[in-house]
Amino acid sequence: MATLTLADIPEFEFAPVEADPHAYIRELRAKAPLARGGIGMIVALRHHHLELVTSDVTRQIETETKLMQGISSGPIFDFIEAAMLFANGDIHQRRRQPVSRTFAFKLMDAMRPKAAELATSLVMERLGKGPVDFVNEIAAQIPARIIADILGIPQSDLPVFMKWIADTAEALGFIDPERRETIEKSLVEFNAYVESLLEERRRAPREDFITEYLATTAKDETLSEIEIRTQVLGLILAGSDTTRGSMAITLAHLLARPDQWSAFCADPDGLKKGVVDEGLRFDPIVSGVPRIAVKDVEIDGYTIPAGTPVAVSLLSALRDPDVYASPDTFDIRRTDHPRWHPVFGAGAHRCVGEALARAELEEALAAIARTAPKTTLVGDFPRLQSGAIRQITGMTVRFDA
Ligand code: HEM
Repeated sequence: MATLTLADIPEFEFAPVEADPHAYIRELRAKAPLARGGIGMIVALRHHHLELVTSDVTRQIETETKLMQGISSGPIFDFIEAAMLFANGDIHQRRRQPVSRTFAFKLMDAMRPKAAELATSLVMERLGKGPVDFVNEIAAQIPARIIADILGIPQSDLPVFMKWIADTAEALGFIDPERRETIEKSLVEFNAYVESLLEERRRAPREDFITEYLATTAKDETLSEIEIRTQVLGLILAGSDTTRGSMAITLAHLLARPDQWSAFCADPDGLKKGVVDEGLRFDPIVSGVPRIAVKDVEIDGYTIPAGTPVAVSLLSALRDPDVYASPDTFDIRRTDHPRWHPVFGAGAHRCVGEALARAELEEALAAIARTAPKTTLVGDFPRLQSGAIRQITGMTVRFDA
């Protein structure tokens, strides 16, 4: 077979994706295993393309996307430059190891009773009281309050902490130029706050995550103060919009299928893992995993030259018919989820917060099913907009008594 080149790859249009991204991507996948975006980005559409991320043929994008937007200095740039997510090789390992050692599965799993308790009380307060803004009043509260608890942030600081999260989470994605000043102002304040938390624990160690994280970082004297602080901030930001949107969209898909919702309400603990696995697969909050090819690489007969940006589309990989039977069917009892759920990425950068995200999502959704089985969706079905982290458009529910 003759080698296929970039020019043979069908073009990907960003515009129609908003309407029904899954239908659009299904059509693309039927044409070829790869698609070509307007900015020269190759979009890899199959589950097996995750190998691009686990092997050394690609590297993580560093500050390039911010530079493309004309952001080459200032608080947003400094955050991206010091974060583990946007680093490669040894630098990435040095930043990640102290976090992954301290942010351990056991500690995160221990958050389950807290997440369940928190969700139950948030729902109980609103039971039988009419329409509820689910995204802000429930789904955003759980990850923010749990991470505040892990970091030892006092209750009285929660309102300002949540405002900083809402503003600065935007630093991870495409920056709306009109929002840059607000994001940067909040980022400066948030940095100072995290810095003071670190100082406090250095002065008066406790038995908590930050104290342990600081002890681990102390073993690597090459980590700068900015790097240490940025990883804490990175944990807060990477875990907020992702968990919030996943919780809302999973609940929406359940409520739209009364048979599956009532099955879940009848056995919340038995089905919570299946519910979360399927919610994260069916409408993933992270649209893809972008990288840059560092060598010429062949993918399914196409040669992609070194230097080409390549993104593995999670939206597409998670509906790959080679992996998932009837991929367009939402089924909380499906048994074909791979051992490593692709929504959390793959390889060196695979999500550090998976255990925490799962604990929060499973326990919060099970608590809602237990406390408010008569929950209904009010108004339009929510949508996840296109973007690296797909933002949810809003969602109203009623928790009828
Ligand atoms: C449903 C929820 C979540 C999803 C779908 C998700 C997904 C992902 C994905 C796909 C990556 C890899 C990105 C890449 O390779 O380019 C990632 C990395 C990361 N995630 Fe998550 N995440 C979630 C929740 C969380 C939570 C709760 C935290 C922490 C509190 C967290 C912290 C991180 C961090 C720090 C990284 C960077 C890891 C590295 O670069 O080595 N995430 N996440």
